[in-house]
Amino acid sequence: MADIICVIGNKGGTGKTTLSHMLCQGMGLLGQRSVCVLTDTHREPLDPSGRRYLLADARSREALVKVVDKVRGLKAWLGIIDGGGNRTEMDRRLYGVADLVLLPFRDSHEDIRTVIRDLEMFPRAYAIPTQWPTNAWQREAAEKTVGELLAPYHDRILDPVFSLSGSKILLQKNMPEGLPTPLANACRAAAHQVVDLLQLPLDNEDPLPGIGNRIANPPPPQVQMAQLAVAA
Ligand SMILES: Nc1ncnc2c1ncn2[C@@H]1O[C@H](COP(=O)(O)OP(=O)(O)OP(=O)(O)O)[C@@H](O)[C@H]1O
Ligand SMILES: [Mg+2]
Repeated sequence: MADIICVIGNKGGTGKTTLSHMLCQGMGLLGQRSVCVLTDTHREPLDPSGRRYLLADARSREALVKVVDKVRGLKAWLGIIDGGGNRTEMDRRLYGVADLVLLPFRDSHEDIRTVIRDLEMFPRAYAIPTQWPTNAWQREAAEKTVGELLAPYHDRILDPVFSLSGSKILLQKNMPEGLPTPLANACRAAAHQVVDLLQLPLDNEDPLPGIGNRIANPPPPQVQMAQLAVAA
């Protein structure tokens, strides 16, 4: 059975969608098949070409049930569900179907207050710092804030996803073939954390670090888009 990962959280703009796509692209680079599931009714579906993962449109409740059922039945696949901000009821439902729940948060007191509330509400969830500062001083200050405010949850905080201007490429409707190497590496690193948390066996890992999106033999998707294209 496939594992379902939900990227949720009450605060808008924390990086849920970006992280969902980074994870899927990273999974593809690690040789792991995945589907990125859109649930946000305020967003449009993206074009699948150039991506190392499939996309599914689950913006209605019925479509979500069908997509989750379909993905669950795919052996050795992952479904990564991108939530939407300010949707506590939806988050609760997604939490109920998820094998792993990720709560992105940025370096701000407001995000941290919200993620504490979400960590309390979703006791199996992990918080993941996103858009994290790369400048040494800012990073040190951000880590200090997290150390102080999130101390009781320190074992539920994952390694950060750093601020990377290239990450917006993943949310372009049409993604170019071949991502910049720093972005590909960040996708791979984020995916690796999830692989470790879910203890997934990896047998197809790209052996060459830093070669961006170019793998000689990309794993062919064994499921066609049509199979996941349930009516939204
Ligand atoms: N790692 C990152 N580095 C740089 N910018 C980022 C990163 N992650 C997200 N962003 C930027 O932050 C903004 C919000 O990101 P995103 O749309 O992924 O958040 P969201 O949580 O899905 O928002 P919403 O609640 O509206 O669904 C976007 O402009 C995105 O490009
Ligand atoms: Mg979003």
